[in-house]
Amino acid sequence: MDYTAPQDWSFPVPIAYGPGRLRDIGAVCHRVGIRRPLVVTDRGSVGLPFLSDLTGHLSDAGLTSAIYSEISPNPRDTEVAGGKAMFRDGLHDGVIAIGGGSGMDGGKAIALTATNDIDLWAFEYEQTPPDMSAHAPFPPLITIPTTAGTGAETESTAMITDTAKGMKWCIWHADLKPSLALLDPEITLGLPPHLTASTGADALVHAIEAYCVPGFHPLCDGVALEGLRLVAEWLPVAVQDPGNIEARGAMLAGSCLAGVAFLKGLGMVHAISHMVGAEYDTQHGLTNAVLLPSVLRFNADAIADKVVPMARAMGLDDPSFEAFHAHICALLDEIGIPKTLAEIGVPEDCAGRIAQKALQDSAAATNPRQSTRDEVSALVLSAIRQGR
Ligand SMILES: [Fe+2]
Repeated sequence: MDYTAPQDWSFPVPIAYGPGRLRDIGAVCHRVGIRRPLVVTDRGSVGLPFLSDLTGHLSDAGLTSAIYSEISPNPRDTEVAGGKAMFRDGLHDGVIAIGGGSGMDGGKAIALTATNDIDLWAFEYEQTPPDMSAHAPFPPLITIPTTAGTGAETESTAMITDTAKGMKWCIWHADLKPSLALLDPEITLGLPPHLTASTGADALVHAIEAYCVPGFHPLCDGVALEGLRLVAEWLPVAVQDPGNIEARGAMLAGSCLAGVAFLKGLGMVHAISHMVGAEYDTQHGLTNAVLLPSVLRFNADAIADKVVPMARAMGLDDPSFEAFHAHICALLDEIGIPKTLAEIGVPEDCAGRIAQKALQDSAAATNPRQSTRDEVSALVLSAIRQGR
């Protein structure tokens, strides 16, 4: 560990946490200067109670809102362009991004582009960020997660599918931060067990992958371990007892912490999952959950020093890699995660292509084991065929 290398650490954004906090949304909008919010969500959220609750609270506060719900599970550049047009046509002055990862990512991408004419892909994470001094400021952004999993609420980063290239890229700008992330566990009470499981597993993967990113980042490492502790303890409870508000609250807090932790980076689970999702439209958290045991074994030698603190955070008596791996597999079994990518519709003949693309993903660069295309291809093939 290099304790002498310079680092820049940013603290997350203001967070309003607690059951029933959605009722505060009107006051929050007034506080951050939003008068005509555009509510952005995913197609799957249309008709769900939290959306009518949200618009009801906005209307009660005297705010005129509209809903843009054309965001698919893997948000596309074309859908972002549609939201940007609606923002401008409706003279909106702020974005409320509400949903799982896709709804929030769609809202963030719309906020990134709504008030300027910069090409969406100029905000790609690996590129030199656009100079915003000659452009209008980004509109205020409020994020509201409806699942405990993505941890997407404290940052402006968004994963968007490039429909021309069939690839998924991370976009962001340092100047766009949510003015507030609103975490209301009551919103997640209605989430069915299979979605509680897959989104919760995404949070589990965030905590583990972030903690395993090499480098000195005590802030992210600390929240990664606490996020891992909360998720490992409460995810099975939330799946088995969906109405348990304590479990829902612990999961929402744990997923938020895991989301903060991955400011440090992610790893090969996400690098592969992003490309599988872009090609086969598989659910992000589910894809991650299936991949996790294979990638942990792939990285085993490179994360040997990280396993002991993670095993301790999960309360294991035996801090060996095998015990840690077995505990993760048992947890995934307990919440009903399939064992192979084949079971979620990923064919064997894609392994080489997915590996090639995964190595271009920013998450591959922070994976603890640097690897060749052939090694990653073998890993993908093994996750398709054998799994854990
Ligand atoms: Fe994720």
